Amino acid sequence: MPTLTYRPMTPEDHPAFIAMMEATPGVVIRDADRHAPVARYLARNPGMSHLAFLDERLVGCAMAGHDGKRGYLQHVMTAPDMRGQGIASTLVDRCLAALASEGIDKVHLDTLHDNHDAHRFWERLGWSNRNAEIVRFSRILVDNPNA
Ligand SMILES: CC(C)(COP(=O)(O)OP(=O)(O)OC[C@H]1O[C@@H](n2cnc3c(N)ncnc32)[C@H](O)[C@@H]1OP(=O)(O)O)[C@@H](O)C(=O)NCCC(=O)NCCS
Repeated sequence: MPTLTYRPMTPEDHPAFIAMMEATPGVVIRDADRHAPVARYLARNPGMSHLAFLDERLVGCAMAGHDGKRGYLQHVMTAPDMRGQGIASTLVDRCLAALASEGIDKVHLDTLHDNHDAHRFWERLGWSNRNAEIVRFSRILVDNPNA
């Protein structure tokens, strides 16, 4: 019987993390998802990002960090054949517990406007849709549209 386990993400998980992103429809891989930026993110936010494994296979991911005031979640995903078993909600709970333990009181995340499944998931978990009040602006600081 395969065993489902959870643990914090490390830089050594990067190849499996990228493979999982590549295999997840709707997930966009940016240059910021390369090994060096991910390792820097994990070093700046130790113990905050979490993974789920079915035996040795990576089946879920949720990355979390904060800027000292607000927390942020990124790359929350579950392997398509493992969805609907509470994996993402468990990973999110672990991320939120880690952020709360650092004194973070409020957490934000972005979803694509047309990712309606994700919107339903976040609403089911009790998150507020801020679409009517917040518009995100972004600016790229390098000559790279995939930054
Ligand atoms: C969204 C996603 C992470 C959910 O993963 P999951 O492991 O299946 O989610 P869980 O099993 O933990 O679901 C938690 C709750 O949300 C509900 N839920 C999950 N996906 C849902 C959906 N598409 N529509 C409605 N409810 C949904 C579950 O039914 C469950 O509710 P319950 O507690 O009443 O049983 C997964 O579908 C995924 O990886 N999607 C592609 C990547 C993505 O879009 N990520 C979000 C980017 S912000």
